[in-house]
Amino acid sequence: MRLPPLLVAIALALAPMVAARADDAPARIVVRAAHLVDVQAGKVRDNPIVVIDGDRITEVRYDGQVPAGARLIDLGGATLLPGLIDCHVHLTGDPGEVKGDYYEAILKRSAIDSAILAPTYAKRTLDAGFTTVRNLGADDYVDVALRNAIDRGDIPGPRMLVSGPPLGATGGHADGTTGFSPWIEFHDINGVADGVDAVRHRVRENVKHGADVIKFMASAGVLSAEASVGAPQYSQEEMDAIVEEAHRWGKKVATHAHGAEAIKMAIRAGVDSVEHSSLIDDEGLKLAKQHGTYLDFDVYNDDYILSEYAKKGFPPSTIEKEKRVGRLQRENFQRAVKAGEKLAFGTDAGVYPHGWNARQFAVMTHWGMTPMQAIQAATVNAADLLDMKDKVGAVAPGYYADLIAVQGDPLGDITQLEHVGFVMKGGAVDRNDLAR
Ligand code: ARG
Repeated sequence: MRLPPLLVAIALALAPMVAARADDAPARIVVRAAHLVDVQAGKVRDNPIVVIDGDRITEVRYDGQVPAGARLIDLGGATLLPGLIDCHVHLTGDPGEVKGDYYEAILKRSAIDSAILAPTYAKRTLDAGFTTVRNLGADDYVDVALRNAIDRGDIPGPRMLVSGPPLGATGGHADGTTGFSPWIEFHDINGVADGVDAVRHRVRENVKHGADVIKFMASAGVLSAEASVGAPQYSQEEMDAIVEEAHRWGKKVATHAHGAEAIKMAIRAGVDSVEHSSLIDDEGLKLAKQHGTYLDFDVYNDDYILSEYAKKGFPPSTIEKEKRVGRLQRENFQRAVKAGEKLAFGTDAGVYPHGWNARQFAVMTHWGMTPMQAIQAATVNAADLLDMKDKVGAVAPGYYADLIAVQGDPLGDITQLEHVGFVMKGGAVDRNDLAR
């Protein structure tokens, strides 16, 4: 076709403007790799081409056709997966802060110190391939501020759901002053609350100040000063009230529980997930199934606590408590896998260094999960627990463009996930060591 000269002239004159427009327009990106772990179907697919417009995936194709006009990120022989999800982290602290003097972190640091360091831990977590996390417990609402800064795009970090200060009984796992002189007073904003009215009020306070999820301590714990490691610390009435109140406000509930009795009380109260789940018994497994409760087992922690925490100056009683739950937790995790429980990936990172989250996968496969099951725990299952199952945890149209890639085969060698070479969150590349 021949164009009239005037039209040609106009077209030539406009060409630079059109080009400038295209530069400014939201970029279409195409990510190509050799394989994709399709976590929804539970199988690996070859030669994926993922089309991304803005922060969302718009298409996944396998016909080798790269749509024209897109920026191509070619990851060669790598394997793509959805961004990983950790349902239990504490981005406001890291064991690296405790270097032999256990009391220094407690007595010489404030919420401002936590807030200064938290962005570093958030970045390490994102760099390790975890594009979504649930932060289960942070005093002073440092977690809310961190989430908001990430959401605004002020600092890099994973998508965060946060709990604010975890609720707990006086003298229990959430009470940092247990064992101190009664004359010592801290002016932090914590979650200590006793009695039905007080716990209801405390739930409302957390919702008011920006919590996405409610966390409470159903039982004693390891890294706190009480003598027991697993005894219940709230009454059934208190647990019922916390869950009822949280659900009324549209918030899910996660509970910390090691002991068998506390786990069952929390499940009966209607919690959405039990964290640790260490000493769960047969009746507890049955109850969890009946109620559809997710169980998170932080099965890597035992290794790190037993090898490092004495050196950090933690009291011998803490190490002794860890020995009472560590091994049994792994055995009970295996029983839960066999029983077909709903299991999600939660590490309690912050007890061990941020960025090491993926080390838990190898423990999970050693104790009974297939690699695919372990990956699903950290993708589809985790997304379901977080009420985000149509947004994150899969590489499919409509989902956030949260993608990671590893050089080797993660199903043949799950430790590949400890060496993530490409991370994209919401269509923005966080890091890429794989591009050719
Ligand atoms: N935050 C937990 C607590 O202090 C950590 C427990 C870690 N131990 C374990 N075996 N998972 O109770």
